[in-house]
Amino acid sequence: MSGLFVTLEGPEGAGKSTNREYLAGRLRASGVEVLLTREPGGTPLAERIRELLLAPSDEPMAADTELLLVFAARAQHLAEVIRPALARGCVVLCDRFTDATYAYQGGGRGLSTARIAELEAFVQGDLRPQLTLIFDLPVEIGLSRAAARGRLDRFEQEGRGFFEAVRQAYLTRAAAVPARYRIVDAAQPLDAVQRALDGLLPELLEFARG
Ligand SMILES: Nc1ncnc2c1ncn2[C@@H]1O[C@H](COP(=O)(O)OP(=O)(O)OP(=O)(O)O)[C@@H](O)[C@H]1O
Ligand SMILES: [Mg+2]
Repeated sequence: MSGLFVTLEGPEGAGKSTNREYLAGRLRASGVEVLLTREPGGTPLAERIRELLLAPSDEPMAADTELLLVFAARAQHLAEVIRPALARGCVVLCDRFTDATYAYQGGGRGLSTARIAELEAFVQGDLRPQLTLIFDLPVEIGLSRAAARGRLDRFEQEGRGFFEAVRQAYLTRAAAVPARYRIVDAAQPLDAVQRALDGLLPELLEFARG
């Protein structure tokens, strides 16, 4: 058996966390075994690395440190959770994965895409998501949704230019490999977003059933 690896991507406040439960519910109702997880994190150790990444701190974090921490957490998550679940034949729904590294550390921080690709190959080997849903929306809408949740994390404290670069990096990746990506208009009201996800379900189930 080999499972299906699906990732949900997009900037802060796009609705990834809100909609992953919805999508998992729809897939389970169709008889598919789903494992829901997230990055950075997904194991106790990787969640501790997440805390290091998100906590505002007086000591500025070097961009390379950030990149290596992201991939360190990912190595743990792959070993402990993602690869075993795929081997069991699960559909793995992961809230953020390596596209987020290209978007945030590449687009946002300006790190080289080639460097990220080297680490991707080192940590993941050949493993890539088969399908990636990008929740896309104008930066200011996402930021105002995120701000309404309360205290801002280390990324949410970045300026608008950072998030414009994040958004562009996601869209550029999607345009380069359209077969792997589906763009969801995340600026719509939640029920419209969920109708769009319903529209993707037949295709997801087809992927899941091989
Ligand atoms: N389509 C929508 N319309 C209006 N509000 C929404 C919509 N989708 C999500 N929200 C709200 O916006 C906030 C952020 O949503 P959510 O936490 O799902 O985003 P996220 O993509 O997971 O963000 P982050 O990357 O910061 O984790 C939540 O309060 C959620 O209820
Ligand atoms: Mg979230």
